Amino acid sequence: MDTSRASLADLKHYLQVATEAAQAGGVLLMQHRGALSQVRVKSASGDLVTEADLASERAILSRFKAALPTHAILAEESGAHPADNGHTESDYLWAIDPLDGTLNYAHGLPFFCVSIGLLIRGKPRVGVVYAPALNHLYTGIVAPEGDSAEALAFCNDAALQVSIADDLKTSLLATGFPYHRSELSDNNYAEFMYFADRTQDIRRPGAAALDLCFVASGCYEGYWEQYLNPWDVVAGAAIVEAAGGQISAYNGDALDPYSGAIVASNGHIHSLLIEGLQQVAAKKGSSHAGQR
Ligand code: IPD
Ligand code: CA
Ligand code: CA
Repeated sequence: MDTSRASLADLKHYLQVATEAAQAGGVLLMQHRGALSQVRVKSASGDLVTEADLASERAILSRFKAALPTHAILAEESGAHPADNGHTESDYLWAIDPLDGTLNYAHGLPFFCVSIGLLIRGKPRVGVVYAPALNHLYTGIVAPEGDSAEALAFCNDAALQVSIADDLKTSLLATGFPYHRSELSDNNYAEFMYFADRTQDIRRPGAAALDLCFVASGCYEGYWEQYLNPWDVVAGAAIVEAAGGQISAYNGDALDPYSGAIVASNGHIHSLLIEGLQQVAAKKGSSHAGQR
């Protein structure tokens, strides 16, 4: 296992591998688009897997195994892939969603993407989110401390920067709802109503990785969601941070990518988002159950 400190050059190399893998997955998603024959329901009626998810994941995995065999992988459809030393718990772990927004994809909406993010010792450091139907390739690197003043977050060739709004009244937010919301009391409806009354509006596009990229690009001031998985958030979290934004847990602590819950913002409204989430939780008399 390579436990040395990753340099900026290392991170750029990893980003290159991830970008090529995401593009290969994206090509397959476009080939299968509109011609699906195998659509299977997973945990709930809105939680689908198709032959496109599986084909994209296979293409991505083969590239990672060839290029970065000492890194471990957690992929949505096939689970944990150990590094070539047999460790599933490597310092370097790639979280891979071969198709984020499968429900959108199956319905012909263009809001879907491949999401590939690298955790180094539990922290999001590299992210690629490729939305082929939008022709948007988002990339981000969280540079080693004190290492870089250059822009490290992009959409295609354009540098990304979070927005400057600093109050809820001038903010557009995004969120999502868990697939099994009808069985949950902690279904995000109360949080949605809290922010709906205090912001310009709220969007629910249905692809968590893209929601995070829209925070990074300044379209949304903030985003919150729970009951997610590492493959939904690691790439986008790295891109938000690289674009100057902030990511955290619902209580403002450092993000735990395995917790299921994330808050992302332009930084200026972060404390207002945390305050709102805490107020709603206090009113419900519970902490947020969606944080596993
Ligand atoms: C889903 C999307 C959606 C979010 C769900 C995720 P999938 O990913 O990101 O926006 O609300 O929780 O599971 O299932 O399309 O990969
Ligand atoms: Ca996903
Ligand atoms: Ca997926």
